[in-house]
Amino acid sequence: DERAAADHRPTSATRGSAFIRACRREPVPHTPVWFMRQAGRSLPEYHKVREGIAMLDSCMRPDLVTEITLQPVRRHKVDAAIYFSDIVVPLKAIGLDLDIKPGVGPVVAEPVRTRADLDRLRPLEPDDVRYVTEAIGMLTAELGATPLIGFAGAPFTLASYLVEGGPSRNHERTKAMMYGDPQLWADLLDRLAVITSAFLKVQIEAGASAVQLFDSWVGALAPDDYRRSVLPASAKVFDAVAGYDVPRIHFGVGSGELLGLMGEAGADVVGVDWRVPLNEAAKRVGPGKALQGNLDPAVLFAPRTAVETKAREVLHAAQAAPGHVFNLGHGVLPTTDPDALTALVEFVHTTTER
Ligand code: CP3
Repeated sequence: DERAAADHRPTSATRGSAFIRACRREPVPHTPVWFMRQAGRSLPEYHKVREGIAMLDSCMRPDLVTEITLQPVRRHKVDAAIYFSDIVVPLKAIGLDLDIKPGVGPVVAEPVRTRADLDRLRPLEPDDVRYVTEAIGMLTAELGATPLIGFAGAPFTLASYLVEGGPSRNHERTKAMMYGDPQLWADLLDRLAVITSAFLKVQIEAGASAVQLFDSWVGALAPDDYRRSVLPASAKVFDAVAGYDVPRIHFGVGSGELLGLMGEAGADVVGVDWRVPLNEAAKRVGPGKALQGNLDPAVLFAPRTAVETKAREVLHAAQAAPGHVFNLGHGVLPTTDPDALTALVEFVHTTTER
């Protein structure tokens, strides 16, 4: 691992980009912008290439992954690409029987609820995801100086899908395990941390310039439970990729009360949803970390002048942070007008040009 880390030169091509510089809290020519879920359902060109191909099948086809990842870069002129995949891809790759149901989300055939179930969560080998290495090789060649963000689901959010068997509003079975069998819970999260760490390493070694850990549903937890039952596993993931010198982003939804702890877990950049203004988030996260966010994705349904007013508020609040990557507070909603996204990128760039 030491050698792998030393061999990775991060890199020449993307090191001077506004996105990487903002993550590292260095001066930038303009505030960089990308959008969570920028690749996918808001784009007609995405629907066209995905026609008749199941979501998880599309994730295993390097040609398709490359095309879909590049679509929002071409169209919106965003400052970074995010690798087109899903958080459940590494779980599928180790042999779990799961599917992504359109309009529903990930569904797991046999939920993970007992100690015996843990045996199905074997470590991920790079050979399990050769299509990822291949796609990232193709992508970095096309992207040149534009950084590629790799990503993975965080242990808690993955555990919720595995224990519940699908999407959940209240995470009741997940919390029942966390409170009722803390050792089983800790072992489950540790296995997921091992899988997630291996998956992020594959992406970095293939050429990803930054990584984001999505703990989308972590806002369901109180700070004490997060600190005790979740933070150690997420910290293990961040530690595993610390030697690579690529920025590590940590994002959750409804995570206002957890922002300080999410930074402590080992992130270089903390992603913030729209509920906490970035000047307040900067206080909670503390110095030494950049912030990412945090325009409410629903704002994009308002007229352009209203979008610009709200975007200006985000940029103003972000002046309190030592580095800022402009993003939405959660993913692009599927019915968003793509032209509203393109206009927003241009607005942020021209407004912040230095
Ligand atoms: O542009 C990008 O951000 C990359 C693509 C991406 C997808 N999933 C593609 C996808 C990313 C980063 C993800 C991560 C992901 N997947 C998260 C974390 C981000 C977040 O939104 O909080 C989560 C929680 C999942 C689980 C998941 N997968 C959900 C909730 C859904 C949507 C279900 C639905 O149909 O409403 C999926 C499916 C999914 N992942 C789609 C896409 C483009 C839609 C499926 C399709 O197009 O057929």
